[in-house]
Amino acid sequence: MTVPPTRPAADELDNLHPALRRCWHPVARSAEVGSEPFRCVLLGEPWVLWRDSAGELKALVDCCPHRRAPLSLGCVVGDDIQCGYHGWRFDGDGTLVAIPALGEGATLPGAVKAGSPAGLVEAHGMIYLAPEDPVVPVPTMAEDGDESFLVGDLPVITTRGSAALLADNFLDMAHFPFVHAGTFGAEEERDVAPYEVVREGLTTTVAFTHAFANREDPGVEAGLRPLIQQRRLIYRFTAPFHLSLRIEYLDAGGVNTIGFFLCPQDAETVRVYSTLWRDDLDGDVERMAEAVAFEVAVVEEDLRIQSAYDLLSVPLALNVEAHTRVDKTTLEMRRVLIDLVAEAAR
Ligand code: FES
Ligand SMILES: [Fe+2]
Repeated sequence: MTVPPTRPAADELDNLHPALRRCWHPVARSAEVGSEPFRCVLLGEPWVLWRDSAGELKALVDCCPHRRAPLSLGCVVGDDIQCGYHGWRFDGDGTLVAIPALGEGATLPGAVKAGSPAGLVEAHGMIYLAPEDPVVPVPTMAEDGDESFLVGDLPVITTRGSAALLADNFLDMAHFPFVHAGTFGAEEERDVAPYEVVREGLTTTVAFTHAFANREDPGVEAGLRPLIQQRRLIYRFTAPFHLSLRIEYLDAGGVNTIGFFLCPQDAETVRVYSTLWRDDLDGDVERMAEAVAFEVAVVEEDLRIQSAYDLLSVPLALNVEAHTRVDKTTLEMRRVLIDLVAEAAR
């Protein structure tokens, strides 16, 4: 028996693939970052984030150019960050603005700079950072800012895993009866009906309508609607790891959306950010909390398998794995990642 290698081959996309430096990644929730230094790790590199006196977001590589202490151990002074070791101070662009030990008015070494990201934005309650010039658009959510939706954040989950495999798992439609038997999977059809994948740049969309048993609809018991109803599912994927599933209930009305935003933290770790948007709960925050708890249970079912993979990567050659028509969407995800790698190398 051959033992599979535990290190990804060169033509695999793992959490540290260099092309990922030219992408937007979720690094924190907006509410997590204030006027105190906030440290996070992305693609194996530490960053420090803070807000200046006007609330504007700043980020630098969390490594002081003087003696490489983490800047996040220091503090925010006015709009700047001050290293906790010798007090060197940097503005939000990484420019050195003070060296206390040289005294007032000293000439500062002009070439010294703390590393800064190519891009930093806030979108739908998340902070996104691009280490180098991004080749993909800033991720969006159609529900963002629409006040008819209640918004529920899942607790941030840090897990062993591959961001690409977790994205693959979110798009996968054939695992529900097997992985999710403890939550929603037992009632799911095993057969996956044929579907189409629409590709636009580095984004894919799969939309289809199917019949399902709407056991949550009070209108069924009241005799207003049949148990078997129609719903429309819209899966969206934007490279590298920005995913959503929007479910539109065509008979009972209402929309449920799950956002799934993955941060490749280091070679073996992913931070999973997930948010629910629902416009069918009449503002009932308790029911929203129940929906969030249910979704956490669903994600935990997925992570039982995803965290146990030996190879934490997705092949960038399409003949390494076996594919069927059911895997059309995850096959297209691989093509998008292949194109992303080519685009990033240009
Ligand atoms: S290590 Fe940061 S000021 Fe010296
Ligand atoms: Fe799943």
